[in-house]
Amino acid sequence: MNTAPGMKDVAAMAGVSIGTVSNVLNRPELVSEATRLRVRAAIDQLGFVRNETARQLRAGRSRTIAYVVMDAANPFFNDVARGVEDAARAEGMAVYLCNSNQDAEREREYLERLREQRVQGVLITPIDPAGEQLAEMPARGTPVVLVDCPARDDTMCSVAVDDILGGRLAAQHLLETGHERIAFVGGPMTVQQVRDRHAGARQATERWNSPTELVSVETTALTVAEGRRAGERLAVMEPRPTAAFCANDLLALGLLQAMTRLGLDVPGDLAVVGYDDIEFAEAAAVPLTSVRQPRELLGRTAARLLFEESSGDPDHVHQQIRFSPQLVVRASTRAS
Ligand code: RIB
Repeated sequence: MNTAPGMKDVAAMAGVSIGTVSNVLNRPELVSEATRLRVRAAIDQLGFVRNETARQLRAGRSRTIAYVVMDAANPFFNDVARGVEDAARAEGMAVYLCNSNQDAEREREYLERLREQRVQGVLITPIDPAGEQLAEMPARGTPVVLVDCPARDDTMCSVAVDDILGGRLAAQHLLETGHERIAFVGGPMTVQQVRDRHAGARQATERWNSPTELVSVETTALTVAEGRRAGERLAVMEPRPTAAFCANDLLALGLLQAMTRLGLDVPGDLAVVGYDDIEFAEAAAVPLTSVRQPRELLGRTAARLLFEESSGDPDHVHQQIRFSPQLVVRASTRAS
C-alpha cells in the first residue's frame, strides 16, 4: 500500500537524522543553510506533508478549539461562530465547527471525539446544559464554555443573553401596541433559551394592567419549517391571537411566510416579533421586529473565557456572563 512519506523518508533521502528534519521544520535557525536546502529538496521531491495534529498531540494539546452549535442552518450560530473565529485567530488557534442539529446522540459523539482529539477546549450551545458528559469534560482534561445558554452554577463558564428579560421586552412591546391575546411560538420547551423567553413573556402578560392571554403554540424545533406549521395552526385559532412572539427569528420568518400564503396581513391581522435579530430579520418582506442578541460579542467573549481557562491560569474563576438584549422595532409590529 503506498503510504504517505514520513520524516524518516525525508531524513534518508537528505542523508540526515530525523532530529535534523524536525529542526528544519520547527527550529530552522539551528540548521546550516546547506543542510536546510538538502532537507527542503527532499521534502519537495517526496511530497512530504507534516502531520500537524500528531505534532500538536505529542506537544500535549492541539492548537484547536471547537464550537458545537445546535443548528448550522441558523444564521444566529454563524454570526456567533464569526466572533469565535476572530478571537481564535488572534490566539493563533483554529476552530472546529460541529453541528449537533438538535440531536442529543450526535452531540454526545462530537463531545467524545473532541475530547479524544485533545482540543484546547470546547464552546457549546448544548441541547442539555445539565448533561453528565458535559459536566465531566473539564475534569477529563477538556475545558468547556456554554454559549447562548446560562450555566446553572459556577462550575462552568457561560456567556448568554438575559432571555427572561428578552421575553419580557417582546411581550411588553406587543401589550403596549394594544395586543391582549398573544401567542408564544417556540419549542421544544426542553431548550433552556425557549423556556426563559416564554417565562419573560409570561411575566409581562401577568403584570399587565388589564386582562391578557398568552397562548402557547409549541414547536418541535426552532426552524423556518416549524414557523410555517405554527402559522397554519395560528390562522385557524378561535379566537385568533392578534400577535405572536416567536422564540427565534427563523420561527418568525416561517410564520411570516405562512401569513402571506394564507392571505393574512402582518401586522394588521397578526403582529409578529422574533428573537436574535439576524440579518434576514431586517431584510424580510415585512421587516421583522426582533429581540437583538449581540451575536459576535457572544462568540468573542466565550472564546476569551475558554482561552483563559485552558491556559491553566490558577487564578481563573468561572464566570457566568449575561448580556442584555435589545428590542428592535420594525414594520412587523408597527402600523406602517
Ligand atoms: O440557542 C437556541 C436558540 O436560541 C437558537 O435557535 C438561536 O436562535 C437562539 O436564539
